[in-house]
Amino acid sequence: MAAMVSPAFWSGKAVFVTGGSSGIGRELAIAAARAGGRVGIIARGADRLDGVAAVIRAAGGTVEAFACDAADAAASGRSVAALEARLGACDVAIACAGIHRTSWPLEATTAREVFDVNVGSTVAFLSAVLPGMLARRRGHLCGVASVAAAVGLPGNAAYCGSKAAIVAFLESLRIDCRPHGVRVTTACPGFVDTPLVTDEERAHGGLMPADEAAARILAAIERGRAEAWFPWHTALAARAARLLPPWLRDRALAAQPPMRDASRR
Ligand SMILES: NC(=O)c1ccc[n+]([C@@H]2O[C@H](COP(=O)([O-])OP(=O)(O)OC[C@H]3O[C@@H](n4cnc5c(N)ncnc54)[C@H](OP(=O)(O)O)[C@@H]3O)[C@@H](O)[C@H]2O)c1
Repeated sequence: MAAMVSPAFWSGKAVFVTGGSSGIGRELAIAAARAGGRVGIIARGADRLDGVAAVIRAAGGTVEAFACDAADAAASGRSVAALEARLGACDVAIACAGIHRTSWPLEATTAREVFDVNVGSTVAFLSAVLPGMLARRRGHLCGVASVAAAVGLPGNAAYCGSKAAIVAFLESLRIDCRPHGVRVTTACPGFVDTPLVTDEERAHGGLMPADEAAARILAAIERGRAEAWFPWHTALAARAARLLPPWLRDRALAAQPPMRDASRR
């Protein structure tokens, strides 16, 4: 059953989402707008952003789009300034932009790209909204990591490493920001049905619909939760693997089929 998104929380709030043109980010934007939020969406491709904005406006929602590379600190700064000028000061910032690339055999260019986008966009975007939130002594930051942050999966050194970096980055920020009235939530989804997963993974079944993942993330923000790992069985398996001694964990994980790269279908 999908988590409930409460209009009482979202109504009138300025909610900015990177990666808002596709998958989980698209559903976050649509659900936040449906609950009364004034939504700003950021991604590189203008066409898909415009498509999501049209869907939100057709349903009577308020949305503004800004096309840029969120991993570029200057561009992220411009996106936040432009969206705040149109929608008001950011109340909730969700860093959802991300890519998946298989990094086996480890290849520096691919690994760098994954870290640049996943970690770089999270750091650049949240750094752009945070000073304003600290000055206002209110706001909520959220980053979308993954259950893949819990363990190093075969073929996924870059993806797992980037997501683990986001988890630790947000954990520290949460402690630093709380005394200043700014909350931080880390979302760690398992497999979600979006263009990021391969046809093979989709055929395997068990993927969570993207709108359900989005509803869980928004519900976690509403409740001020520090972390939201889901679905529970994937989260439990990933976190239990951490408790194994490294030699046993390595053997167990080596037997898993590697996650593949949807961009190389
Ligand atoms: N799907 C899953 O199973 C799953 C599971 C756990 C975590 N996640 C995480 O959830 C997040 C969303 O993934 P998704 O599955 O919804 O993927 P998706 O459908 O491929 O969406 C990714 C979004 O990120 C944007 N993006 C990528 N690079 C960007 C950049 N440099 N600057 C700005 N926007 C950028 C994309 O738009 P442009 O390409 O136009 O920029 C798109 O809007 C990612 O961080 C992913 O790692 C996904």
